[in-house]
Amino acid sequence: MGFPTPPDLRVQGDTGSMATRRPRRPREYTTALGFGGVVAGIVALALLRTGQSLFEMALVAVAALLVGAGIAFAHCWVRHAARVEAHLRESEARFRSLWVTSSDGILIIDTAQTILYANPAVRPMLGWAPAELVGRPLERLQPERLREAHRRGMQRYLESGERRLDWRAVETLALHRDGHEFPIEIAFSEVMLGEERQFVGFLRDISVRKRAEETLRQNTTQLELRVAERTRALTEANEQLRRLDQVKSEFVATMSHELRTPLNAIIGFSGLLRDGGAGPVSEEQRRQLGFVHGAGQHLLALINDLLDVSHIESGRLVLQAADFDAAEVLTDVMTALAPAAQAKRLALTGVTLAPRLPVQGDRRKCYQILLNLANNAIKFTEHGAVRLSLGLEGPWLVMNVTDTGIGIAAEHQPLLFEPFCQIERGHRRSYEGTGLGLYLCRKLAQAMGGEIDVESTPQVGSIFEVRLPRLQASVPVGPAAAAQPSAPSAASVKATEGA
Ligand SMILES: Nc1ncnc2c1ncn2[C@@H]1O[C@H](COP(=O)(O)OP(=O)(O)O)[C@@H](O)[C@H]1O
Ligand SMILES: [Mg+2]
Repeated sequence: MGFPTPPDLRVQGDTGSMATRRPRRPREYTTALGFGGVVAGIVALALLRTGQSLFEMALVAVAALLVGAGIAFAHCWVRHAARVEAHLRESEARFRSLWVTSSDGILIIDTAQTILYANPAVRPMLGWAPAELVGRPLERLQPERLREAHRRGMQRYLESGERRLDWRAVETLALHRDGHEFPIEIAFSEVMLGEERQFVGFLRDISVRKRAEETLRQNTTQLELRVAERTRALTEANEQLRRLDQVKSEFVATMSHELRTPLNAIIGFSGLLRDGGAGPVSEEQRRQLGFVHGAGQHLLALINDLLDVSHIESGRLVLQAADFDAAEVLTDVMTALAPAAQAKRLALTGVTLAPRLPVQGDRRKCYQILLNLANNAIKFTEHGAVRLSLGLEGPWLVMNVTDTGIGIAAEHQPLLFEPFCQIERGHRRSYEGTGLGLYLCRKLAQAMGGEIDVESTPQVGSIFEVRLPRLQASVPVGPAAAAQPSAPSAASVKATEGA
C-alpha cells in the first residue's frame, strides 16, 4: 500500500544535518488485524447465542474480521497522511527560512542553464529581483567573455561527468544589472529531482575580501621592495666596511713591520751598551740603558700583539700542521717562565698526564697560547702556586693553567676575551700588559677548532682550560701571512726578558 511521501530529493555529496526524518509508518497497521480479530470474535459470540450453524458463524466471523481490519487500516491511513503532510509543511518552512534569510544568493538552474529559482539575496548582490531572473538564462549574470567557457564546462560535465573545478568554491566574476563586474565565489551542487538534473549554486560577493587581498599583496610587495633596498644598502655598507677594515689591517701590518726594524736596533744596541759591549759604562748609565732596553722590549711586545691581532682579523693567519709532542711545549713554557715565577717566589709546576702527548697541529701557536695563560697566571698571583697540566682526552689536547691569584669576579669573566680588556684597572701600575693576550689566545684556539674557558673565584684563584683538537688541519689563509710568520707575543717577550 503506498502513502504520500516527500518528493525523492537526491543531492550529491554530504546532505548535512538538515536532512529531516520522515514520520514512521504507524504501529497501528500491525494492530489493525488484531482489532478486526476482536470485532470478529464479538460477532461470532453474538451469533453463537442466536444458534446459527458453524459454517454460517465462520462466514460471518471472517466478514467481521475483514470489516474490522478495513476500518482500522482506513483510520491509520488518514492519520499517517496527516502526519506526513505536517512533516512536509515543517520541512518546507525550515528550508524556506534558509532560502529567504541566507545572505548568499542561491540559484537553481536546469541543464539548459535556465534559472528555475532565485532567492531574495540575489537582489542586493546582482541588482535583479528573483522574479526577474526566473526563466532567464544564467548568462544574464555572467560577463560576456566568460559565457562560452562556462557553457563548454557544463556541456563537458553533462556528457562525461568530468569536473575541472572544485565545485565547493569556484571564484569567478559576476555581472551586475548595472553592468559592473565583481568577484564572487560559488559553491555548486547537483540535485536529482526524480529524473530531472538540476544545479544549485550558492553565490557570495567577495569584493571586500579581494580588495583586502589586493591591499595586502601591494603592501607585501612594497615591503619586499623596501627590504631588498635596505639589504642592498646594508650589503654596500658592509662591503665598504670590509674594505676599510682590510685597509686598516694592511696599514697596521705595514706599520708594525716598519716599526720593528728600528726598534730591534734600539733594543739590540741598548742591550749591547748596557752590558758594556761598546766600552765600560757607569752603574747609573747601566741602569738608564736598562730602562731604554726594557721600554724597547715592551714596545716590541705591544707591536707584536697588534700585528697578531691584525693578522687574525684580516684573515691572514696561517696555521701549520705538523706532528709534535705537547709535553715538549710544556717544558719550553716552564723553562721560559721559571725565572719570573722564581722572582715572585711562586711554586711553578708542570704536569703531563702521559709521558708523551703526540699531537698534530701548529706547535708555535700552541706554545703561544700556553705561554700567554701561564704568564697571566704568574702576573696575577702574588702568593701560592701556578700549575700547568696537559693531557689527552679523546680527540682533544687539554691544557689547564691553575693559579692561586687575585681571581676574576663573575661579572667580569665574559669580558676577559674582548680585545684591550684589562679588568684590574686599579692595579694597572703593578700589572703591565695590552689586554690583547686572552683575545689572541681565544682567536687562535678557535682558528684551530678549539676553545678556551675560565673558572675563577676572586681572591682564591683561576683555572683557564684550553681544548684543541689533537688533529688540526693546516689553514693557509693568505699569501701575505705565509711570507710573514707570526711574531712572538707580548707574553713571550716578557717571559724571555724575565729569563
Ligand atoms: N690568571 C688571571 N688571574 C686574574 N686575572 C686575569 C688572569 N688572566 C687574565 N686576567 C685578567 O684579564 C685581563 C686580560 O688579560 P690579557 O688579555 O692577557 O691582557 P694583559 O695580560 O695584557 O692585561 C687582565 O688584564 C686581567 O685583568
Ligand atoms: Mg696577558
